[in-house]
Amino acid sequence: MATRDQLGIRARRKLTRVVRRTLAHLTPHRRRSLTSLANCYGSDKGTAVGERHGYSREYEGLFSPLRHRPITILEIGLRFDPYYRSTSRISPSLAMWRDWFSSAHIYGFDINDFSAMSGERIHIFQGDQGNAAQLLDVALHAGSFDIVIDDGSHASFHQRVTLETLFRHVRPEGLYIVEDLHWQPPDLETMLPRTPRMIELLRDERFLNGIGVAAPAVELRMNGKLGVIRKPAAEAAMASSGRTLSQA
Ligand SMILES: C[S@@+](CC[C@H](N)C(=O)[O-])C[C@H]1O[C@@H](n2cnc3c(N)ncnc32)[C@H](O)[C@@H]1O
Repeated sequence: MATRDQLGIRARRKLTRVVRRTLAHLTPHRRRSLTSLANCYGSDKGTAVGERHGYSREYEGLFSPLRHRPITILEIGLRFDPYYRSTSRISPSLAMWRDWFSSAHIYGFDINDFSAMSGERIHIFQGDQGNAAQLLDVALHAGSFDIVIDDGSHASFHQRVTLETLFRHVRPEGLYIVEDLHWQPPDLETMLPRTPRMIELLRDERFLNGIGVAAPAVELRMNGKLGVIRKPAAEAAMASSGRTLSQA
């Protein structure tokens, strides 16, 4: 049971978030940074909540050229709420993407039901990221993705199935990102089929060549916590697989 001090800390944190959120709402979205949106909605991708990963700063740089383009983005894993154990089905990160990208279509996939977030630009799918058929349903609906972010269970087996299933549905020059490479949940690692950790797979050229395109470029950012895989432009992919555009 929580002590009086813990309840006080929680109440103060909640109040801080409400004040931040209220102030933030007074600033037009187009002038807000991704980090301020992450902090305002309570995503741990920002610098104020949970592990305060700060990925939002990396994303701001990576995604800026796409901010006002009609791109398609998919996020796997939608809710993080370490303090309140809330049953809310509002996703902080989807709210952040919706506000920051002005014209993107945003797909959300989670084992829990987030259909309450569905909207004109938000498409919600419920499923298990260890199930390739359920992931493919999203890809079939979306056509292809400019950005995929895996922030789901973080289990190695799930990350592998998701990458092997979805990378071929990323557009040339698109980005596939795996968060929190430094941590896997020990219980799931024991329960699920054994596989090398994603950080090892991202260094394995044979594995990378097998995921659907030749020579994807991999960068490990934020001290190896964030894996960013960039799909080569169509011409580069064909050149490295020994084909020319006319042979495609
Ligand atoms: C780290 S949280 C996501 C945080 C959120 N993206 C944010 O930035 O605030 C992990 C999410 O993954 C979901 N999840 C866990 N196991 C899953 C699975 N097997 N398939 C799909 N989603 C899963 C959980 O329900 C939870 O919403």
